[in-house]
Amino acid sequence: MKILTVVGARPQFIKSSMLSKAVQPFKEIKEIIVHTGQHYDDNMSKVFFDQLKLPKPDYHLGAGSGFHGRQTADMLEKLESIMRTVKPDVVLVYGDTNSTLAGSLAASKLHIPIAHVEAGLRSYNRKMPEEINRKVTDHLSDWLFCPTSSAAENLKKEGITKGVHITGDIMYDSVLYFKDVALQQSSILQNLALSPKDYYLATVHRAENTDQPERLAAILEAFQQLEKTVVIPLHPRTKNKIEQFQLSNLLASSTIKIVEPLDYFDMLTITSEASMILTDSGGLQKEAYMLQVPCLTLRDETEWVETLQSGGNRLVGANKEKILKSIQTLHFPSDFPQIFGTGKTAQEILNVLTAE
Ligand code: UD1
Repeated sequence: MKILTVVGARPQFIKSSMLSKAVQPFKEIKEIIVHTGQHYDDNMSKVFFDQLKLPKPDYHLGAGSGFHGRQTADMLEKLESIMRTVKPDVVLVYGDTNSTLAGSLAASKLHIPIAHVEAGLRSYNRKMPEEINRKVTDHLSDWLFCPTSSAAENLKKEGITKGVHITGDIMYDSVLYFKDVALQQSSILQNLALSPKDYYLATVHRAENTDQPERLAAILEAFQQLEKTVVIPLHPRTKNKIEQFQLSNLLASSTIKIVEPLDYFDMLTITSEASMILTDSGGLQKEAYMLQVPCLTLRDETEWVETLQSGGNRLVGANKEKILKSIQTLHFPSDFPQIFGTGKTAQEILNVLTAE
């Protein structure tokens, strides 16, 4: 069996690493990895391949950044040509990025079956590029691997029931697999002079926050007023927008620590030792829950509704007052359900793919 895996953005390297590990013992399964190049900085890409011991990509498309149409079109054209040559039995795509969309579109036109890992997530906000990407991908997919039962319910509402499997979340496999080694190897707390549970960790990169100056400013103003240090590994998109909107003055606070994007081990360590996470990332909301750290989500809605219901996560939007109030009142619940499965998602996905 030939599996062609399409990855391109940071969280996809993490998700795909566990499936690549699960595939390795099987001589009869060959995985061909295509890196679209959507993320290309060393600290957004190479460092993840090194640390997660991911096989070197068989193809690198060098698509880079750009307007969504151009970026996706570039990937689409190159992926089509690779798929014609490789003739895979299945194309495996992850999550909701432009790389996911390009992979599923290219495969569908060539009538190659598609497997979508992290299927069924919905924010019901069509202004998010990710919402368009995942909806289209789900409707083109033959296997839909849902991390949660609510994701499967979302698909049912859209008439998709065939090929749907609730497998748990593959990021949980990764957290369980790498957590101990990350904590052992990372010296991020010492490097940044942080004490466990005495700082906040914040990430902001979603277009809805970075591309609207008033939202970005409100978030940064809230960060300025926090009582503990807030560490912000700054996404290149956010860095560019802060400069463009002339908001750099809002970072000038003794409690704000700006750092470059962190590698996976540093990120797992700094997340698990934070007293709270503030983020608009989907992945970090989940990792916070998996590591039992309370999370304020800097968005108006989330796909990870179970984390809200459990009480470990709260939506605060880009509302300064809500952020400052919630930081005082949110605690991770002592009694919390395991919403992301058992940590054996990669194996379950492989079992399904090889069963037919
Ligand atoms: C993308 C995904 C998002 C995911 C995120 C993970 C889409 C539409 N969005 O967002 O769902 O949560 O990845 O991190 O696919 N840039 C660099 N170096 C890089 C990569 C990006 O400088 O290595 C800068 C460029 O200015 C670029 C901007 O970041 O224009 C945005 O990058 P892009 O890949 O379009 O989207 P992300 O914001 O990273």
